Order: sequence, then C-alpha cells, then structure tokens
Amino acid sequence: MSHVPVMLNEVLENLAPRDGAAYLDGTFGGGGYARAILEAAACTLWAIDRDPDALARGAALVAQFPGRLHLIEGSFGDMLSLLNGAGVASLDGMVLDLGLSSFQIDDAARGFSFRRDGPLDMRMGRSGPTAADLVAGLPEEELADTLYQFGEERLSRRIARAIVKARAEAPIITTGQLAAIIRNVVPPSRDGIDPATRSFQALRIRVNDELADIERALQAAATLLNPGGRLVVVSFHSLEDRIVKRFFADAAGRAPGPSRHDPRRLAAAPAPRFKLLTSRALRPRDSEIFGNPRARSARLRAIQRLTHEFGTLP
Ligand SMILES: C[S@@+](CC[C@H](N)C(=O)[O-])C[C@H]1O[C@@H](n2cnc3c(N)ncnc32)[C@H](O)[C@@H]1O
Repeated sequence: MSHVPVMLNEVLENLAPRDGAAYLDGTFGGGGYARAILEAAACTLWAIDRDPDALARGAALVAQFPGRLHLIEGSFGDMLSLLNGAGVASLDGMVLDLGLSSFQIDDAARGFSFRRDGPLDMRMGRSGPTAADLVAGLPEEELADTLYQFGEERLSRRIARAIVKARAEAPIITTGQLAAIIRNVVPPSRDGIDPATRSFQALRIRVNDELADIERALQAAATLLNPGGRLVVVSFHSLEDRIVKRFFADAAGRAPGPSRHDPRRLAAAPAPRFKLLTSRALRPRDSEIFGNPRARSARLRAIQRLTHEFGTLP
C-alpha cells in the first residue's frame, strides 16, 4: 500500500518553499507533500494529521530530516491551538490536501470503502461516533438530509427509507451491507459510478465533520500566515471546493458586492489581505490522471498574503 501525492508539482510551484521559512502541512497523510517540501528548501515543517496511523508511518521521515519535521496529532480545524502548543505563532505557508489517503481508502478495516467489505467505521481519527452509529441512530429524515447535503444524493429519501427498513430487521454494521442496501434502491448510472459513492461520501463527511473543519482551518490560516505567506488547498469534491473558492474570493476582495448604484457600496469594504495565485482552480494534467486515477477530481487553489496591506487612501 502507498499513497501517490496528487498535483505535487503544482503544489510546490504555488507554495514556493524557501530556505529558513516555516510551513504547515495540515494533512500529512503518506508524507508525500511533506517530503517534497523538505527536499525543496532548508525549511521547517509542522505536519498535522488526525489519523494516528499516518503519523506513526511518518516517524521514518522525521528521522530523515532531523529537527526539521514535527508531527502533531489532531484536526487541522484546531491548528491554532495545536501550533500554539508547539510554540508556533506564524507561518510562511500552508498546504491542505483534503479528504482521504490511499492508505485509508485501501484498508477495508477503516470502513471507508464500498468495494471492500469491512466494519462501517469511517472515522479518520479514533474518537467519536462511527458511520454504523449514525446509520443505526439517525431518524429517517435526518439521515436523508445528511445524504442530500453532504452527498448531493438526489435519491436521499428513498435510500434513507431503505436503511430504516433494513435496520429494523438487522443492525447494519459492515460497508458491504450498507452498499448492498443502497445498490438495491439506486439504479446504476450510465457513467459507471457506483450507486453507493455519494452516500458513502456523505456519511464520511458527517462522521468527521469535514466541512466545518475546513472553514475553521481557512480562518486560522488567514491569521497564521505572515505577509507574503501562501496557502495552497487541494480539494476533491464540489462541496469542499465551494468553501475554498468562496473563502479565497472574500480574502482577496473578489466576492461579489452590492451593485454600483447601491449606497451600501460606499461603506468601506475591508481592504483585501490576500491575492489569488490561481484565478481559477488548477486541474491535474491528463498524464497525471492516467497514472493515478484518484487524481481525477482534484482541484487546486492558492492565495498569498499581501506584503503591504492598504487601508483607505490618505
Ligand atoms: C489526501 S491525504 C494527504 C496526502 C498527503 N498530501 C501526501 O502527499 O501523502 C489526507 C490526509 O489528511 C488527513 N485529514 C483529513 N482531514 C483532516 C482534518 N480535518 N484534520 C487533520 N487531518 C485530516 C487524513 O487523515 C489523511 O491522512
């Protein structure tokens, strides 16, 4: 098992690591970005992951870059307090590679995969309710809302009904059981995507509270980055990318405001503190997708904190 880092060249180009600078990799995973950043410049790197297995695998990399790589267990949404605890008050750059690593997807025991049967877990960390707990306990309507909101599943009500019916007969405790229930009520799509894909994504996002964590991480990044500091985010589905896109547009003063004729426009809008490094999301090259199909839905966006922040004109 291994994890092939996605859009690595584009990540490095946009992060532009410098000697002597301090960086955060908020999603250490298989350490692919971390290794490349440490090799690209004589910098210091803090790396967070909420999955203790990922950090355990990282021990060899820590030994390879003595004093330069520091691993921290926790959620990137808590990066302010995690970094504070490590004595880090500011950073020159940060990268977030959202979602799951291949280690997590490919390990049936983690319960993320609808292709391999395993316990219905889906937790990236070790605490909190599992997907099986949610499937067993959520009322039908809340289950349907979860599938709709976090999976954009149009047949959410039908699936929720089938789950509630099935769980009345026997507890749903494996990924295989859940996938079979969904496949039974959702017709196969013409593009060959497994009918369970969207529901599994939805449950995973809810189990790990992923979207709220991304919002908190972006807010924290905006306060942690030094002038000139860069933030690079790679996302894998439209819900993640929408949050990043909106936040970046706001931070760069590009969010749509009131119309030209609206008096509210006269109220001083906060001066932008960032500029966009990517005017639109970058996508992986075809050659990368060919070699690593998991890269196909990746989108990369980056911003840079301005070195001079302008207030109102004198
Ligand atoms: C796509 S992988 C990162 C791969 C990495 N860039 C590499 O090159 O090996 C995502 C990793 O981020 C972790 N992760 C996802 N959400 C997280 C969060 N909110 N806080 C901390 N870690 C998170 C996952 O546990 C997983 O190990």
